Amino acid sequence: MLSQNHLHVSLLYIVLLTGTKYGCGGGGCGACTVMVSKYDQLNNRVLHYTVNACLQPICTLHGAAVVTVEGIGSTKTKLHPVQERIAKAHGSQCGFCTPGMVMSMYTLLRNKPHPTMEDIREALGGNLCRCTGYRPIIDGFKTFCDVSNGCCQNGESGGKCCIENGTKQHKYSDLFHMDNVLPLDPSQDLIFPPELMIMGKKRACGSLCFQGDRLKLISPVDLTNLLELKTEYPEAPVVVGNTTIGPNMQVKGVHHPLTIYLFVIYLLCVYVHAGVSMGAVCTLSSLKDEMERAVREMEAERTRGYQALLQTLRCLAGKQIRNMATIGGNILSANPKYDLNSVLAALDCTLQVMSKENGTRAITLNEELFTGFGKTALRPDEVLLSIDIPYSKPWEFVSAFRQAQRREFAFSIVNAGMKVLFREGTNIVESLNIYYGGVGPTLVKVGRTCQKLVGRSWGEELLADACRLLEEEVELSDSAHGGKVEYRKTLTTSFFFKFYMQVLQELRERYLSALKPFKNELVSNAQSSQDPVGHPMMHQAAFHQATGEAQYYDDIPAVQGELFVYMVTSTRAHAKIINIDPSEALGMTGVVTFLSAGDVPGQNRRMLFNNPEELFAEEEVSCVGQIIGAVVAESREQARRAAQMVKVTYQDLLPVFFTIEEAIQHQSFFDPKRKLERGDVGKAFETVDQILEDEIYLGGQEHFYMETQGLIAVPKGENGELELFVASQHSAYTQEVVGITLGIDSNKITCHVRRLGGAFGGKVMKIASLSAITATAAVKTGRPVRCVLERGDDMLITSGRHPFLGKYKVGYNNDGTIMAADITYYSNGGCTLNESLAIMEKALLHMDNGYKIPNLRGRGLVCKTYLPSYTAFRGFGGPQGLMVMESVLHEVAVKCGLPPQKVREINMYREEECYTHHKQLFSPRDMLRCWDECLDKAGYHDRLQAIQQFNTSNRWKKRGISAVPMKFGVGFSKGFFNQGAALVNIYKDGSVLVAHGGTEMGQGINTKALQIASRILKVPMSSIHIKETCTGNVPNAAPSAASFGTDAVGMAVKDACEKLMRRLKPFMENHPKYTWQQWVINKHPPGYKKVNIMMGPHTDMDWENSEGPAYYYFTFGACCSEVEIDCLTGDHKNLRTDIVMDVGRSLNPALDIGQIEGGFVQGIGLYTIEELQFSLEGVLMTRGPSQYKIPALCDVPPQFLRIHFLSGEPPVFLASTIFFAIKEAVAAARRERGLGDSFPLSSPATAERIRMACEDQFTEMAPSPKKGTFKPWSINI
Ligand SMILES: Cc1cc2nc3c(=O)[nH]c(=O)nc-3n(C[C@H](O)[C@H](O)[C@H](O)COP(=O)(O)OP(=O)(O)OC[C@H]3O[C@@H](n4cnc5c(N)ncnc54)[C@H](O)[C@@H]3O)c2cc1C
Ligand code: FES
Ligand code: FES
Repeated sequence: MLSQNHLHVSLLYIVLLTGTKYGCGGGGCGACTVMVSKYDQLNNRVLHYTVNACLQPICTLHGAAVVTVEGIGSTKTKLHPVQERIAKAHGSQCGFCTPGMVMSMYTLLRNKPHPTMEDIREALGGNLCRCTGYRPIIDGFKTFCDVSNGCCQNGESGGKCCIENGTKQHKYSDLFHMDNVLPLDPSQDLIFPPELMIMGKKRACGSLCFQGDRLKLISPVDLTNLLELKTEYPEAPVVVGNTTIGPNMQVKGVHHPLTIYLFVIYLLCVYVHAGVSMGAVCTLSSLKDEMERAVREMEAERTRGYQALLQTLRCLAGKQIRNMATIGGNILSANPKYDLNSVLAALDCTLQVMSKENGTRAITLNEELFTGFGKTALRPDEVLLSIDIPYSKPWEFVSAFRQAQRREFAFSIVNAGMKVLFREGTNIVESLNIYYGGVGPTLVKVGRTCQKLVGRSWGEELLADACRLLEEEVELSDSAHGGKVEYRKTLTTSFFFKFYMQVLQELRERYLSALKPFKNELVSNAQSSQDPVGHPMMHQAAFHQATGEAQYYDDIPAVQGELFVYMVTSTRAHAKIINIDPSEALGMTGVVTFLSAGDVPGQNRRMLFNNPEELFAEEEVSCVGQIIGAVVAESREQARRAAQMVKVTYQDLLPVFFTIEEAIQHQSFFDPKRKLERGDVGKAFETVDQILEDEIYLGGQEHFYMETQGLIAVPKGENGELELFVASQHSAYTQEVVGITLGIDSNKITCHVRRLGGAFGGKVMKIASLSAITATAAVKTGRPVRCVLERGDDMLITSGRHPFLGKYKVGYNNDGTIMAADITYYSNGGCTLNESLAIMEKALLHMDNGYKIPNLRGRGLVCKTYLPSYTAFRGFGGPQGLMVMESVLHEVAVKCGLPPQKVREINMYREEECYTHHKQLFSPRDMLRCWDECLDKAGYHDRLQAIQQFNTSNRWKKRGISAVPMKFGVGFSKGFFNQGAALVNIYKDGSVLVAHGGTEMGQGINTKALQIASRILKVPMSSIHIKETCTGNVPNAAPSAASFGTDAVGMAVKDACEKLMRRLKPFMENHPKYTWQQWVINKHPPGYKKVNIMMGPHTDMDWENSEGPAYYYFTFGACCSEVEIDCLTGDHKNLRTDIVMDVGRSLNPALDIGQIEGGFVQGIGLYTIEELQFSLEGVLMTRGPSQYKIPALCDVPPQFLRIHFLSGEPPVFLASTIFFAIKEAVAAARRERGLGDSFPLSSPATAERIRMACEDQFTEMAPSPKKGTFKPWSINI
């Protein structure tokens, strides 16, 4: 009997070790990956496979062994080679994803000690990393491939490996060395516990029953027992992989008081004469293995269906999910976004189902099986036994299609299965099966279309009729759930067109390209050609991160008497709060108290530059997700459940609006509005050859740091002191806000920040509010209180990067010279100003990028809407400001009929001494050098030609290339933030302790501080230690942001160490033979302790006069990217990116390259994949990794090339090259159809937008409905 509600509590919450991380709780990130080993009775072997611990109910592990990252190695004993190599290859930045990555790789090696690159790609496909850009992780793991013959294993050059093409490459990156690394020795691996083996070999002797407070789980002993249970409890779901039921229970709050869990594998794969029969409980991984085996062993003609199935299975979910999820569960979840049903139905599969009362019956898997979303025609007492998947017949052709937001590890938007059988020896259709998923609440068979095409010959006429019939038959209302209506309709015909071509073998050569799906390649180690300037020292905490020993705030063990706080948030966008009634919540078990505005002892608001934001909404709410109250309870689960029971009565208020366009209509802007101007814009417009007016919309972005926000507040009991262990990028601000909230002085509040699992600007503001609320709870109850936001709440409450709309009027001459530009930037600031003004200022300050536009005006307006307040995100407005200007350049080039890179060159700053539009002096020399070198290294001109050739010979695949220069200001434009502080202590034993005001969040600030201290003090890094960031040690520190953290902190550490060395110097000179320790022992008093504050040069802007030195300095760079798009689906592939950055000497090339790559890959997300969706009521609907896609391994360009180094935020913007390359590729497709090169494309350039921009006969069949004639499913805010 389990005392708590632990039955469905996943393994993640039970292990109580620090290595297995919570990133999303829904199987979508891989941070919680562990290895499960089980004895397989049928094959008499032990199976090792990865699972997502967050979805693995603890009760279902009876008889299984679980290995977490702690089990394979530790810094105290010995690292496992996987842990060592990811650390040494710099594959661990913030470290939050690292244990999951390690376990995926470890499990792969347990099953296959010499994996191929494809194995690694597959194994890591379900693990997300928000920091590294994946390349260093792959570099580290690739060393396990069988490289005894020196082969790169990558097939990088034209699909051939280096041995084949004679270009043997460096085996490993020059950024790390394989000398002295531990060899992989499988004999050292943990053995499967013998007692479990004995248990596994014995037949199960009885059913298992687990009983909790609210849940019961029964595992039947055999089929008869299962059928009896199903008869007795027909409503109880049969749980196998738990990958549908689990997220429903954990994330959506669905409650099943009783579940029946299947431990025993009833029917594995059995061959029967007509095809393969798969047991319903076979996992998708074993289905894939079985299909692969069949394809390998049998003649191709019979396995066409299996090949189609495999194509889908390769992209379906990540490895961990495929290891857990079963084929039966996939089918019976009856979710049209799941991929298998459309293919299995097209293949005419049969299900064998059974019940106690009626025995076995066979059901055809077709549209009739699915009676509604999540509902099937199975009777409640029936269970699914197996699925028969028939062989293909001669003259039968089968294809499967899916298009998702991200190529892999993403639910499909539309999927399809198609099968045609021809009359033998002819092209006459004998039968046709077409099924779609994702175009309705259930699986859709286009029966009428299929029927009408029977007897027709496979030719152009059939194609035309089929498209017309499909258009008529696929019904999707304009307001359909999931939105993207025109796109989904277009995909149905586009998929059919692909299918048509696939079976049309005699198709002309030029059409063949449309058939090939994109090949997923791994990022290459092109970086290894670098000649590092500084030393690529490993991240100081990498070993601890790789072993799971590194502590994040939520890894701190429960403090005696600890409580848990859960936020109650608004469900209305704009409303008066009439009443808050927590009585029901307060009556629930474990609930200690409820907090709202009246409980705040000090001020119920957080200030930033005189802009207030309420902690708890008092009278009115102004967005969905605004915090109204908080429930404090003994456990997480109790607090969570109770928070849902707090009743808030609202009275809706007007106006309510969410989008920038609506804000403009309502003239709803925050003050002040900003303007920058040089020259005389109005006059210049009178003299130019042409004037163009247009706009570009840029969507927002969610930080999606892998560690969600939270903290622990511990009251110390004496003098009102309070300690906070908090995930904050700006601990001094958190301390200040908590002090004001509690009405106590900052000197009684100490904030500790050891490390953050990623932050990217998102852990500055909201975490201060959360800290103040949690601290209030701690003070009110007198007990420690923990707050950990769940992923969905984190996304709802904390918000992210501002959406922007840039409206511009540009005057240019026919040769491409831009004489005047007038740009108005609108950002969606949400309901409070927060940092939005500073972000808008940065956008305006970057609007000129590298271009000398003599007459330039920029206006910046922050829109006030009824959405959660937008906040800082890597680049802080820079990426948006630059992007609008690059759009201007691009469109002018299109209008002039000139290559965009030429127009960029014509307009660049060129003189040795130039002034920005805010009159800051700089030299563009380095930018021009970067630009020339980038085009040269990228082979831009040759590749442009090759691309043109490719485009003429490929109708449905197009390529594009684009290059942009970059000028980016470093430091804060508010000068007082440009400071760093450090405290250096030297102890009598010679050891050194460095404390500084920066925050370690993966960027390696601690490693660099150690490197600097080591160099100045001339002691090894091993004698220097950095504990944590603590407001008690270094007060009033500036936030770690604006690409300035290391500059400021590094200089402060340097300065402090130099001062200490100056004091030691006379004694050292008198005793040159002494060791460091002897110098220190003899000379220790007074004070080998130095606190130093480094102040950067004063920067400030005079906005009245459009002038001022806004930045400490500028960094420069250039980037060139090439992409390929699939015009029929909108899918795209990043083929190659070259980045040239020149910012001088890198302190640590490995860390800095890691930052560039990580920033760039976040930029890929910003400009091409990451899409936030809001309902018409202002509710964020994309609230987890299942709906919101950040780049995964498959999104990283296979080839990178970089020359110089830079750390920090600017590379985010460089990913805009991918956006513009996509635009070029779309333009090529449009040109071929005689359409204009000029067309709107908003960012991100998602598959939907790409497809719809490639206008053709298929998109014409799905015209956009008139605005106002329907209720769209989501809005662009
Ligand atoms: C992060 C993530 C990503 C995913 N990505 C994809 C994707 O890209 N494409 C895709 O197709 N799917 C995807 N899935 C869905 C996944 O494939 C399904 O959840 C899975 O196949 C369901 O199998 P299960 O064993 O986990 O089902 P469970 O959750 O255990 O059960 C699901 C349902 O099936 C019923 N059921 C299961 N077996 C039987 C049986 N033998 N008899 C009677 N009823 C039964 C259960 O009662 C329940 O109602 C994803 C899931 C997650 C969590
Ligand atoms: S926490 Fe388990 S997959 Fe994200
Ligand atoms: S290192 Fe991968 S998420 Fe931070």
